[in-house]
Amino acid sequence: MTSRHLRTLLEQFRRSFGGKEPAWLVRAPGRINLIGEHTDYNGFPVLPVAIDRAIYVAAAPRDDAGVHLRNLRAQQFGARRFNLSTDIPHHPRGDWANYVKAAVQELVGRVVVQGDSAEGFRGFDCVVDGDVPRGAGLSSSSALVVAAGLTFCAVNGVDLAARELAELMAEAEHYVGTRGGGMDQAVCLLARKDHALRIDFFPLRVSHVPFPQEFCIVAAHSGIEAKKSAGSRQAYNRRVLECGIGTALLAGELGSPAAERLADLAQLLPGTTPADLLPILSRLLDDAEAASVERLADVAGMGRREFERRHLTTPDGGNLKEAEDGLKPLPRCRHVLTEAARVEEACRCLRSGRVDRLGVLMDESHRSCAADYEISCPELDGLVAIMRDAGALGARLTGAGFGGYAIGLVRRDRAARVREALRADFYEKRSLDAAESVLVFRPSQGASVVTAQEA
Ligand code: GLA
Repeated sequence: MTSRHLRTLLEQFRRSFGGKEPAWLVRAPGRINLIGEHTDYNGFPVLPVAIDRAIYVAAAPRDDAGVHLRNLRAQQFGARRFNLSTDIPHHPRGDWANYVKAAVQELVGRVVVQGDSAEGFRGFDCVVDGDVPRGAGLSSSSALVVAAGLTFCAVNGVDLAARELAELMAEAEHYVGTRGGGMDQAVCLLARKDHALRIDFFPLRVSHVPFPQEFCIVAAHSGIEAKKSAGSRQAYNRRVLECGIGTALLAGELGSPAAERLADLAQLLPGTTPADLLPILSRLLDDAEAASVERLADVAGMGRREFERRHLTTPDGGNLKEAEDGLKPLPRCRHVLTEAARVEEACRCLRSGRVDRLGVLMDESHRSCAADYEISCPELDGLVAIMRDAGALGARLTGAGFGGYAIGLVRRDRAARVREALRADFYEKRSLDAAESVLVFRPSQGASVVTAQEA
């Protein structure tokens, strides 16, 4: 954030709240994921980095339980207010206030569960701004959730370890109806400058992996929205459920009904790798890449109703509709299990300076995301091809997919060439603004909270 920007945010705070002085300034960055896509909710690791774009919040405590929200972009994000409680009513789906409510409700709930009363908590006045591209798969919404969580903690003197807050904020986001994994909130809080963050889940553990000095990341927008709150939410939830079906079938076969995720099953077979689960699943499904609900219920040994209740219920309580081409546990699990191995190898590559090989793994990851997970689109494939041709060591879509950004791993001295190729071969042809659509950066520091004086 430039100092001019900061001044505007602080001034806007004073103007919005009758001359009151802000007490805290919170910064929460967006992220890209180098590799490890859709592995988090399956219990396998990811390898993201924080980007140099963030959500900023200027805030001060109130004497009551009200939370009063303003946004510098008031036209798009109107003023909102609500009260702290363990059961905060939603704004309509997609409304920006829901991301703040998600964080606050989770934190208030946690304290009440611990036996304390929520009464003593103070609400806050705040002004929000940010430069993370929205609806683009760079986790602007998780950054807002984390920023709101940090704001609540700062004004109430709640001292939580970053790791604990990351887990709570991942849980919190289920309030908006996405059953995400924990990657976005963890990297936002725990990232370190010039490092990628290896994150393991259940329980959350992190390690910082140095990112090679002579490289940078080029991120290019596909021009296709990847909004967490819209259609891609359903497509995302569908994949979570398809992995859950694969897990349940394997758990039945391996006599381990307690296994909740693919990673739990991978641990059951000592001396094997996660991909060794694939032939078992393939046999159970007679090698079928897609199957009807009827057929899957049959393989699972239960009636259709029971199967739907257990395996097709979405986070918002609805039922997943059967797609025309059926459900696809086999290719979905194939992606996840092979991706898990790629993440392990990617970490070793970064640690030993084998950046070329990391590039190859990123390329393989993109192919697997496209063919088996079906989360790419022609625009993302196009960006990936252009970046590779222009000299990226590897390129892939990043985040949930279905639009949003593709990233390339690029030597710093090649970044200008890759940028130019993207402009000429992608953006110009679509009359899109390349300057706005391409980010070039190195890994940034995770979230921070400072007093307004320090800022
Ligand atoms: C979204 C989710 C993450 C993760 C990615 C895919 O960003 O919020 O938890 O599942 O998709 O890797």
